[in-house]
Amino acid sequence: MDIEGRLIEYAGQFRLIRQVARGGMATVYEAEQIGPAGFTKQIALKIIHDRYATQPEWLQLFIDEAKLSANLVHGNIVQIYQLGRTGSEYYIAMEFIKGVTLRALIDRHRHLGRTMSPALAAYIASRVCRALDFAHNFVLGGRRLDIVHRDVSPGNVLLTWDGHVKLADFGIAKARTMFDPAAQRPLMMGKKHYMRPEQIMGGQVDWHSDVFAMGIVLFELLSLRPLFTEDETEAAIDEVVVAPAPDVTRYIPDLHTSLAGLMRAALSKQREERPSAADFGRVLDQYCVLHREPGSPERLQAHLAELFPDTYRPITESAAPTLTVSISSQSRSHPSFIQRLFGRH
Ligand SMILES: Nc1ncnc2c1ncn2[C@@H]1O[C@H](COP(=O)(O)OP(=O)(O)OP(=O)(O)O)[C@@H](O)[C@H]1O
Ligand SMILES: [Mg+2]
Repeated sequence: MDIEGRLIEYAGQFRLIRQVARGGMATVYEAEQIGPAGFTKQIALKIIHDRYATQPEWLQLFIDEAKLSANLVHGNIVQIYQLGRTGSEYYIAMEFIKGVTLRALIDRHRHLGRTMSPALAAYIASRVCRALDFAHNFVLGGRRLDIVHRDVSPGNVLLTWDGHVKLADFGIAKARTMFDPAAQRPLMMGKKHYMRPEQIMGGQVDWHSDVFAMGIVLFELLSLRPLFTEDETEAAIDEVVVAPAPDVTRYIPDLHTSLAGLMRAALSKQREERPSAADFGRVLDQYCVLHREPGSPERLQAHLAELFPDTYRPITESAAPTLTVSISSQSRSHPSFIQRLFGRH
């Protein structure tokens, strides 16, 4: 039988469970994909607001970008399952993340008046860099797709209760940043405080722009304050494009030279001076190794459990008590399976 190119028809349903959030462009629901014989899969369903979906220019950009990102399958990226339409409503079905946004983690730290450990910040940021590196260099059918996120910001970084870091909304930003349905004209702005100089000025946006945004996010993780704060367009242009890059060491006491240098390079107005996402991530990983605090999901998991005791609900449940073994504190840990492997009794 000839199977190549054969089309298989399928019909499906989603059951909405609850509304997770209503954003400017879409509403996100926790939902279930329903299949035959009681099959269900937990998903997130992002339903695009009508005022966007009825604009043909916007819709075309949105669909083109979603098509580019459809095959981005990586542990640090929220996976897209489907782009679909029911009647006049467009939706994206994607991996459902149980956890919190990085925005919520930063806000929680600020609320508690507790700084974030640089090693934890480096772990989170390095995982976002892995996602970006994968997308920037993604090849499909022998062709580099040059995918750019364009909206790297704490609201789009999701942290699972199990301690994994996932970047969301790949390919969604372009449509939103290029076209404002209310104004019916091109709009050059992304999220105000995470804009890159070339994006504000309407220049070409490529992977360098995502690295600039990573510099802003790392700054915010380490200082718990936004780097750029101006809301008015003119002032924002002045702040990001005209004024010299802020001296990050002024705001973060005891900032390690490697992290200061990394942010300085990433935030350079000359995009050629910015490191690749891969190099950005490597510097962060080296920082952790140097400080004998390698980042791990277990550490982030423990941190989230401590900071969000009321909502913390991990997906996994370990049968054995969790062991946290750090290189520097091995001697303090109780004798364990792992220590026996290292020759300690
Ligand atoms: N895949 C997902 N799984 C679980 N929750 C999600 C998922 N995607 C988004 N969310 C939740 O929905 C909220 C709204 O997401 P949404 O992407 O619509 O808005 P945003 O990220 O705040 O802004 P933007 O429109 O710039 O992306 C997020 O803050 C997050 O809490
Ligand atoms: Mg988002």
